[in-house]
Amino acid sequence: MKPIRKRIFVGSLAVFAAIQFIRPTENLGPAPGGADFIVKAALPPDAAQLLAGACYDCHSDHTRYPWYAEIEPVGWWLGHHIEHGKERANFSEFGILSRKKQTDLLDNAVDAVNHDSMPPWTYRLTHPAARLDDKEKTLLTAWFQRAADAAALPPKG
Ligand code: HEC
Repeated sequence: MKPIRKRIFVGSLAVFAAIQFIRPTENLGPAPGGADFIVKAALPPDAAQLLAGACYDCHSDHTRYPWYAEIEPVGWWLGHHIEHGKERANFSEFGILSRKKQTDLLDNAVDAVNHDSMPPWTYRLTHPAARLDDKEKTLLTAWFQRAADAAALPPKG
């Protein structure tokens, strides 16, 4: 290698090595609590598995990180997605939302699944289980709809 190329190469390696120490905070909250949508809506195992597998990495307090999340700047990129996703919709906090926010979240979730905007295509690329077929979409949206209807009812008592 010519000296200048070698210097650029070594310099890039040094930058790559250095950024590995700048870690995003990981989204690793405790196991699903009572406010979690799966618990609140008493989802059966098949629907719970679909939701957790396709949505919870970005819309809950607990992400299953892939090995490449350990490599920066990939980890930063994932962290940004998770932060942004949770800001818009966090199923772990479903139970503490107002009824209006619950119905909004669920209505948006039905739309997102029906229009294939969620899970994001970049996620579907790397997570085969998140590529929902029509049957899975129908199952998931039916549960969202059922819970939205329940949240829209006036409080009991
Ligand atoms: C890879 C991360 C990721 C996954 C997986 C994911 N989302 Fe999202 N989601 C996001 C991000 C980021 C946003 C905010 C993007 C935006 O507003 O354009 C978002 C936004 C949303 C919103 C709010 C949209 C709105 O109009 O307010 C809903 C509802 C939603 N997602 C539902 C889901 C559902 C349901 C699933 C599973 C079927 C899912 N998401 C899977 C990252 C994700």
